[in-house]
Amino acid sequence: MVGRGRSPDLNRHRIALIPGDGVGREVLAAGLTVLRRAGEVTGSFELEVTDLPWSCRYHLEHGRMMPEDGLAILADHEAIYLGAVGFPGVPDHVSLWGLLLPIRQGFDQYVNVRPIRVLEGIESPLRAGTGATVDMLCIRENSEGEYAGVGGRSHAGRPEEVALQTSVYTRHGVERVARYAFDRARERGGGLASATKSNALQYTAVLWDEVVEEVARDYPEVPVTRYLVDALAARFVSHPASLDVVLASNLYADILTDLGAAIQGSMGLAASANLDPSRRYPSMFEPVHGSAPDIAGQGIANPMGAIWSGAMMLEHLGEGEAAALAMRALVTVARDGPRTRDVRGSGSTGEVAEAIEAAVGE
Ligand code: IPM
Ligand code: MN
Repeated sequence: MVGRGRSPDLNRHRIALIPGDGVGREVLAAGLTVLRRAGEVTGSFELEVTDLPWSCRYHLEHGRMMPEDGLAILADHEAIYLGAVGFPGVPDHVSLWGLLLPIRQGFDQYVNVRPIRVLEGIESPLRAGTGATVDMLCIRENSEGEYAGVGGRSHAGRPEEVALQTSVYTRHGVERVARYAFDRARERGGGLASATKSNALQYTAVLWDEVVEEVARDYPEVPVTRYLVDALAARFVSHPASLDVVLASNLYADILTDLGAAIQGSMGLAASANLDPSRRYPSMFEPVHGSAPDIAGQGIANPMGAIWSGAMMLEHLGEGEAAALAMRALVTVARDGPRTRDVRGSGSTGEVAEAIEAAVGE
């Protein structure tokens, strides 16, 4: 039977929803509307959503960000759709090391994919970014580096107090993320820029360069350029259209992708996928903008980053057609409006989401 709507071979995807804090719930609600509409139009899937209240508010009640068996609960889902983590009242390092970072580590989500595209209709602050020529894909190492969580403090409060945060680079860790990045570059028919700092960091960054070079031998068709990360930051601004796939360590890519979001025209547009490419564990999809406590509850947050991340989730779930519909609708509304005020519009979160939902069916 061929048909739209319910059919016996309709996929049911089990999604864990973690709205988290601040604007998280608003933007995920908008995202779900669009994803569900895409599923109706293609007639290929439905989402079964488990809404989990894990957040800073949860922490105030329970003394932790998620239950002790939180990862086991999540493991029972195909993917995680996360809003934002962090709210005044719980220190950021406590909320993030209680929820987001343990999920990335515990589920071996070693790749963080962040598209950096200037969409038609949205103004980039860069002259070099006008005309929608900027289209990068940043691949962030997401499991080790500066975020390994290795270090310590001693002599608390004394003049001789010491803090150490060790950056951990392993051959295995660099190799697997580099392979992922080269695969994406090959698929896009583009080049790869590797961010390094091997002039100063003679251990970690030199290992990074060596391993990237070794992996590159398996991809002779992908041109590779090695950039010192400081120079690469400058290139993001001066020649953004010259960059395609950008591969960087956890911390470097964290910084470069916020620069990328600014180039896109707003943090509210930035999308991300935390992937376990082996599919042993669920992957996690989240907008990059954070909880934005200053505008939470006002219905003005830009839902586009969440919708974009949702489209990446559909792609990961094998719903490529629906993902493309959602993305095309987002691009149309970015061009024609309505838009939220961070991108020079006056629409609400709900109005933008409804416009994208409507565009999915067109
Ligand atoms: C991001 C965020 C997180 C990170 C923070 C909230 C820990 O900035 O996803 O980019 O640095 O990874
Ligand atoms: Mn960040």
